[in-house]
Amino acid sequence: MIIAVDGPAASGKGTIARALARHYGLPHLDTGLLYRAVAATVLREELDPEKEADAVASCGFPDSLLDDPQLRTDDIGKVASVVSAHPLVRAALLQRQRRFAQQPGGAVLDGRDIGTVIAPDADVKLFVKATPTIRAQRRHAELRKAGQNVSLDRVLADIRARDDRDARRTQAPLRQADDALALDTSFLSIEAAVQRAISLVDTRLAAASATGRG
Ligand code: CDP
Ligand code: CDP
Repeated sequence: MIIAVDGPAASGKGTIARALARHYGLPHLDTGLLYRAVAATVLREELDPEKEADAVASCGFPDSLLDDPQLRTDDIGKVASVVSAHPLVRAALLQRQRRFAQQPGGAVLDGRDIGTVIAPDADVKLFVKATPTIRAQRRHAELRKAGQNVSLDRVLADIRARDDRDARRTQAPLRQADDALALDTSFLSIEAAVQRAISLVDTRLAAASATGRG
């Protein structure tokens, strides 16, 4: 069983994907971390994230880098969104994500293009969303907790800029797959959002088995 969870920054897709993986006993891959690892490598090597060749040269990072908490900062997220627009970077990371998705027993992946590009045949696709203001408030709260003093306006501007770049790129832009189920978490607690996600997955699986698919 493959579950694809896509959506914009701070929509809650990571929280939901992790909870679904736990609930169904499946391995989980946060694919944003791969683009963040490329971004961190570009910065460490003092290369230019806007240059496709520089970004591609940074795709051979070791697996151990994915555990580095530094990858999760907003600055790395911003550069990740720049390197992820290069078609050759996406191509370099494609097989690794497909292999993870197609492992025996199944998997949960979250990102921007799981349902559209990485696993178009996923059994269940969720598209998680929330208003930009609410997403900015969530990010802002996370940053404050981490001791970073940045204004809500600045966080909102960054979120809008990243949404825009992710949705407007020509290669695998952020968009809801035609067969994805939308889940708006704007006014849901984490617990309520997770419950809703589980019930959407169960409903989709029951419908698939009733029609003989899956
Ligand atoms: O957690 P958050 O949504 O803020 O970011 P992320 O999922 O870690 O992704 C960081 C950046 O990587 C995004 O802004 C996208 O540009 C890119 N990304 C992508 O292009 N495709 C994916 N499947 C996942 C992330
Ligand atoms: O993976 P993504 O960037 O889409 O978001 P996340 O890391 O799952 O969630 C971003 C923040 O919003 C986290 O601090 C979550 O605890 C919080 N959140 C929330 O307040 N309400 C929800 N329904 C989902 C997430």
